Amino acid sequence: MANPVSGFSKKSKEEKITWLAENYLANSPNAVATLKKYWNPDEKIQQLHDDFIENTLSNYYLPFGIAPNFLINGHLYAIPMVIEESSVVAAASNAAKFWLKRGGFKAEVLGTEKNGQIHLNFFGKKELLTHFFAEVKPKLIAGIASLQKKMQERGGGLKSIALIDATEKLEGYYQLHATFETLDAMGANFINSCLEAMAHIFEAEAVRFKPFKDHNTYPEVVLSILSNYVPNCRVKAKVSCRVEDLTDKHTDGTTFATKFVRAVAIAKAERHRAVTHNKGIMNGIDAVILATGNDFRAVEAGIHAYAAKNGDYTSLTHAKVENGIFTFWIEIPLALGTVGGLTTLHPLVKLAFEILQKPDAKQLMQVVAVAGLAQNFAAIRSLVTTGIQKGHMKMHLMNILNQLEASEGEKEKAVSYFKENTVSHSAVVSFVETLRT
Ligand code: MEV
Repeated sequence: MANPVSGFSKKSKEEKITWLAENYLANSPNAVATLKKYWNPDEKIQQLHDDFIENTLSNYYLPFGIAPNFLINGHLYAIPMVIEESSVVAAASNAAKFWLKRGGFKAEVLGTEKNGQIHLNFFGKKELLTHFFAEVKPKLIAGIASLQKKMQERGGGLKSIALIDATEKLEGYYQLHATFETLDAMGANFINSCLEAMAHIFEAEAVRFKPFKDHNTYPEVVLSILSNYVPNCRVKAKVSCRVEDLTDKHTDGTTFATKFVRAVAIAKAERHRAVTHNKGIMNGIDAVILATGNDFRAVEAGIHAYAAKNGDYTSLTHAKVENGIFTFWIEIPLALGTVGGLTTLHPLVKLAFEILQKPDAKQLMQVVAVAGLAQNFAAIRSLVTTGIQKGHMKMHLMNILNQLEASEGEKEKAVSYFKENTVSHSAVVSFVETLRT
């Protein structure tokens, strides 16, 4: 068993790798070589990656691809996507092509408000806290003047701060709920700095507030942090066309639209299906979030909470047929940044923004929502027609061949054979075995 290590973060990268190899990898030279094989030969780029986190040993590659032909609000985009799942980019590209001929995607931002809370304990009389908050509020705002100067100059900053009585949820629990406009920044650092500064002032002023002294009861700050639940920072994307225009080689428009709308209704009604349905949406969303250096954990958490906002977890997309028109849309909360964070640091993230023609945060919200909608469209389209496995396994064929360490010649023969035959793991294994005997 390995021994605990102290001062690990202070060791050099070589020392860390040696320690790891000695303690967990049976001194395997192959393991060490694997870690080093993924170092970037450009020392500056490697240093940049080393500095992103603590204890970096190597880099972890994911494919960076693009899905072209996305017509969004009349502009043609090639959407950069970072993802390991074989069929995601292909599915996005198919959906883009499908809707390119049918008017493209329409997207609009419904709000850009972010929020954060100072979570409080207070076990005294509510009136005392209300009275104190009214007195201290201007001081809280004045106290963050220098922090928000630049943001305010650009039209952003703190928009409101209110005392919320949450004692029905938890005894003695109040919060200061603050809303912010952070423009093209995701805003986490800005919001957290403002909240912590205000929390500090709040506590310092509370000890000087006479009514608290008189009652020997004081509010206490438990914690201050932004919320990744941003229902008022929301975007909508949709596609729409006449039902008969949905006809393609797999199905006629009416059958397709009926089954499609039913598939969405099932995802709305039933949690098992809703989770998988939304997972497919996140295939598209996360891929763009990763490519653009945004925080996919924040986005995931916020979107799933939104999917459960009415008490049960349900579909993020909606579909209907009305007067012969098929409409399919998504509405999701998204707090994204096109400045700050990794956006100006990671060379591939910078490139992703160039590919997207340097969008602002609102345009990026629209692109991301469209990527999610397109992904869901592609998944449901396969599910209600051919089934998902045909396309999925076709895309997965190369992974299976790589697992079997197939040669270039074997791959070529396999690709040609499986154009006409169903791909499954066992079918590929026996095909390669036959080639080899
Ligand atoms: C697979 O990554 C995503 C799907 O399962 C989504 C869905 O079922 O809608 C195909």
